[in-house]
Amino acid sequence: MQLEGKVALITGSAKRVGRTLALALAEEGCHIVVHYGRSAADAEQTAADIRQAGRQAWTLSADLSDEAAVTGLVPAALQQAGRLDILINSAGIFPPEDFLAADAATWDRNMMINLKTPFLLSQAFARALPEGRQGKIITMLDALALRPANHHFSYTVSKYALRGLTEAMAHALAARNIQVNGMALGAILPNVNDDPALFQRLAARIPAGRTGSPQDVAQAMRYLLRDADYVTGEVIRVDGGRHLTG
Ligand SMILES: NC(=O)c1ccc[n+]([C@@H]2O[C@H](COP(=O)([O-])OP(=O)(O)OC[C@H]3O[C@@H](n4cnc5c(N)ncnc54)[C@H](OP(=O)(O)O)[C@@H]3O)[C@@H](O)[C@H]2O)c1
Repeated sequence: MQLEGKVALITGSAKRVGRTLALALAEEGCHIVVHYGRSAADAEQTAADIRQAGRQAWTLSADLSDEAAVTGLVPAALQQAGRLDILINSAGIFPPEDFLAADAATWDRNMMINLKTPFLLSQAFARALPEGRQGKIITMLDALALRPANHHFSYTVSKYALRGLTEAMAHALAARNIQVNGMALGAILPNVNDDPALFQRLAARIPAGRTGSPQDVAQAMRYLLRDADYVTGEVIRVDGGRHLTG
């Protein structure tokens, strides 16, 4: 896809990985709708940095645990930006809990934010895309959540299911020239609950010998969005080979 002049909606792009993807896409010539939940000041900063790079940027807040707010996001983005060509479902939650501790409320929250939200947003995006115009959707998976894990139980199940959603949407939308792919991240940035020193020690267990960076994710994103129009339903692991180890 020729990226110059295209408009991307990126959920959770006020900071961290989503912000880097937003700035990388702005460098490629895209205008960006910066979605955020609570990080209003960071979202404004990201938008300012995008404008500084010569592109248009809009900020939109929506609580992705609230179905009505999720349903309103694509129409609000279209109203602001006039068009949408790319949707990146980057927002997510990562609560620690094992199977015996998991409760229905945490389960529902993971399924809503990590799974149902990408479904609802992708459907609204695809419905709004004029027939014949190319579109791209990216979902964010987790290289270690493509196998069972007991430490983030509901999260892991939601990301497993998100892989199924990614493939099912790719199949459903291929004939409409909308490509849907996932990026399964490894250790990119420590979570708020993670000990940063422990996170760095993970490097020894990663075949590439280092943890990743948001820039590594941006490289894979560029490939999927800019270079790979015949790739759909694929999941690219961005994890330095971590999935290859036990
Ligand atoms: N970081 C990693 O190493 C890693 C590893 C594996 C997979 N991933 C996946 O890659 C994606 C991006 O990673 P990340 O580390 O940048 O994610 P993150 O920092 O954990 O979350 C990104 C954003 O999601 C938004 N969000 C969460 N709950 C929300 C809600 N109810 N309503 C609105 N927004 C909400 C937050 O926005 P506000 O701050 O504005 O509230 C947050 O800044 C995620 O899907 C994650 O699961 C990341």
